[in-house]
Amino acid sequence: INRQRLLVVANRLPVSATRKGDASWQLEMSVGGLVSALLGITEFETRWIGWAGVNVTDEIGKKSLTEALADKRCIPVFLDEDLVNLYYNGYCNNILWPLFHYLGLPQEDRLATTRSFQAQFDGYKKANQLFADVVSEHYIEGDVIWCHDYHLMFLPKCLKERNNKMKVGWFLHTPFPSSEIHRTLPSRSELLRAVLVADLVGFHTYDYARHFVSACTRILGLEGTPDGVEDQGKLTRVAAFPIGIDPGRFIRAIQLPQIKDHIKELEERFAGRKVMLGVDRLDMIKGIPQKILAFEKFLEENPDWHDKVVLLQIAVPTRTDVPEYQKLTCQVHEIVGRINGRFGSLTTVPIHHLDRSLDFHGLCALYAITDVALITSLRDGMNLVSYEFVACQASKKGVLILSEFAGAAQSLGAGAILVNPWNITEVASSIAYALNMPADEREKRHHHNFVHVTTHTSQEWAETFVSELNDTIVEAQLRI
Ligand code: UDP
Ligand code: G6P
Repeated sequence: INRQRLLVVANRLPVSATRKGDASWQLEMSVGGLVSALLGITEFETRWIGWAGVNVTDEIGKKSLTEALADKRCIPVFLDEDLVNLYYNGYCNNILWPLFHYLGLPQEDRLATTRSFQAQFDGYKKANQLFADVVSEHYIEGDVIWCHDYHLMFLPKCLKERNNKMKVGWFLHTPFPSSEIHRTLPSRSELLRAVLVADLVGFHTYDYARHFVSACTRILGLEGTPDGVEDQGKLTRVAAFPIGIDPGRFIRAIQLPQIKDHIKELEERFAGRKVMLGVDRLDMIKGIPQKILAFEKFLEENPDWHDKVVLLQIAVPTRTDVPEYQKLTCQVHEIVGRINGRFGSLTTVPIHHLDRSLDFHGLCALYAITDVALITSLRDGMNLVSYEFVACQASKKGVLILSEFAGAAQSLGAGAILVNPWNITEVASSIAYALNMPADEREKRHHHNFVHVTTHTSQEWAETFVSELNDTIVEAQLRI
């Protein structure tokens, strides 16, 4: 069969490269929800276009990396160091990311950020043009081009300026904030207009889509319709497409003999204790300090539990060149040290904090042995860790404590205990409730979520988005 060609364009490729020699590269799976979800797509003839996370300046390096990536159907976009600073560390991760998650600009360097804003925004546009160059080079008529995330809000415009016939969709993996927040962005209008050039614009939840439409009506003065945003007769379709995971990948993994062995080892290691688990990139939006303080409060209030519970926190280092992330790392280490000093004994500590990523199988085993997963994002587009935990809990039927500010709260709310992560008293009592929950309630809650996770997959998400994009284009042609 002739499968539809799909060009997936995202800042981050599914593999990140490290240089091992002149022409030799080590490729490792990238961490993050965007990559995890997109890996589940198999329906299309897919090519990936993106940044390999490494600075390559010489021709030998560029050529050899391009070849190494080709095996994985990946095509690199090369960005030099200065541009990465302005575009990725600066505009994307110091400005857009915190703003879209309602965290505002970093407190300490507000003025510095304000001053360097224009340079960073110019870098952002330049980087988006470089992505468009590579897309154009590989584009064949009829291809669907699917642009992803806040890094590439200019890409739809860059692409259509080159070739108006391209079918272009854009999907945001973060929240889209209330128009009151978006208004504070100096480049608010330019960004919205660039996104609106796409044929279809997608978000995780209906709220985010509504916020986007109202930003377009209030800031640009355009007309919002139930289908999207209209500008002089041209409709940009806007809709919600909640993402999912590839549940089979997890369900199969925990049945492998070597993982079963690993599960058994872990169970023996933590015998006699309930296991609580956090898995996050070490990011401000994940509310890791808040989570740990809530766990401390729980320990304070429940001395009986001191030697019967452990919190395993996997905190994957991320965006380590951005000062705000460096500060967070120090802050978390300090709190963990203090609490372990306070509640630990010579042989045990209440919190095991790891600053590193786990491989897929290690992660699955941890999900499987967990009694209570604790997800306290201050804001989160969706949060796939919550889905992955549920997928691995078919036998244990553990409890999910989930922030009401994660997109996943809208889909897993029926089975999870929803909390306000800012309210550590509430989180502490939810921990107590979860640890004491009777089996029948756990089973009921788990069942709700398991059904959702296994019926709303990333495969389906991608198919729905792409078919909606195709339909939108057919309808637009009929309107002319
Ligand atoms: N993840 C991983 N290795 C780790 C920890 C996490 O590959 O050591 C993956 C995890 O399986 C999940 C993704 O990182 O698919 C995190 O996605 P999520 O949507 O929860 O948050 P994001 O990182 O995108 O903000
Ligand atoms: C989030 C973003 C992704 C990003 C990921 C990891 O999931 O939505 O676009 O890839 O975090 O962050 P990084 O900056 O390492 O790509």
